[in-house]
Amino acid sequence: MHEKINRLLAEVESLAAKSNDEIEALRVRLLGKKGSITLLFDEFKQVAAEEKRQFGQKLNTLKNLAIEKINVLRENLEGSGNFSPALDASMPGEPVALGARHPLSIVRNEIIDIFKTLGYAIAEGAEIEDDYHVFGALNFPPEHPARDMQDTFFVTTGDNPVLLRTHTSSVQVRTMEHGKPPIRVICPGRVFRNEAISARAHCIFHQIEGLYIDENVSFADMKQSILYFAREFFGVDVQIRLRPSYFPFTEPSAEVDVSCNICKGKGCNICKHTGWLEIMGCGMVDPNVLEASGIDSKKYTGFAFGMGIERIAMLKWQVRDLRHYFENDVRFLRQFKTV
Ligand code: PHE
Repeated sequence: MHEKINRLLAEVESLAAKSNDEIEALRVRLLGKKGSITLLFDEFKQVAAEEKRQFGQKLNTLKNLAIEKINVLRENLEGSGNFSPALDASMPGEPVALGARHPLSIVRNEIIDIFKTLGYAIAEGAEIEDDYHVFGALNFPPEHPARDMQDTFFVTTGDNPVLLRTHTSSVQVRTMEHGKPPIRVICPGRVFRNEAISARAHCIFHQIEGLYIDENVSFADMKQSILYFAREFFGVDVQIRLRPSYFPFTEPSAEVDVSCNICKGKGCNICKHTGWLEIMGCGMVDPNVLEASGIDSKKYTGFAFGMGIERIAMLKWQVRDLRHYFENDVRFLRQFKTV
């Protein structure tokens, strides 16, 4: 038995193989069920008791050496890269599945890019806000209906309750509180209103609001900025019109319509045969709002505007049901895949 072990030790020392198959054959020959080392362990059972210790140690050394040698052979083969199926440098690469931007992100980014060219910075803020920053600082009277549970999701009650912001104007308030004019920001973000979900409304949607405050900012500046935006976004031949409106935080206030890009103003069922599509609210910042945030309303004036991203996206792609944007059905989303 001594001799057998010695012979096998010499054999194991000089093991060599060129492929995984060869290594596997060696392993089976030595360590498999009927392998020479395995058979020696069977023989070992018959060894006289006083010799067991000596043979046992030798056998174990042989077995461990064989296992180690086979592992080293495998590692060398993989490392060389020549024969291992684990690495074949000539194989074509795995295609990477590319995701796509959500249509609302596409539109948001497009709007942001247009205002960036006019020098607007982006300001973002918290979705959970207090009453003061969503309503109070924006000149909403205490009994204003927007402050009602019907319209607003409240988190707490009390003097200055915590709530889910109903518009991103709260970010404009915080910008005014912390900065000095000139201020030129756009505030994209998610907003929440307690509305029944339908094809035209959702309780969660997205807005982009803008604010520009400086000396001598006029209504004409606002109109020109909005016209520039409308033409960049909807096309050069788009017309805008401003209709008088009311917001607590702007005076005067207006709603902005763009000429219907589908029927070119002739009248269709998207524009409800008016030739016009409403895209945003706007107005000159009420002096009370400036003063509430520590801006001298005698020195500075400004304008603000706000639009719903879903609405703009619906007009851009003539999507008739706003809920598509939230359901995330990939058959819908795939259509907006950009390169
Ligand atoms: N904050 C208004 C809204 O959410 C939009 C708006 C912003 C209107 C700025 C006028 C000026 O409806």
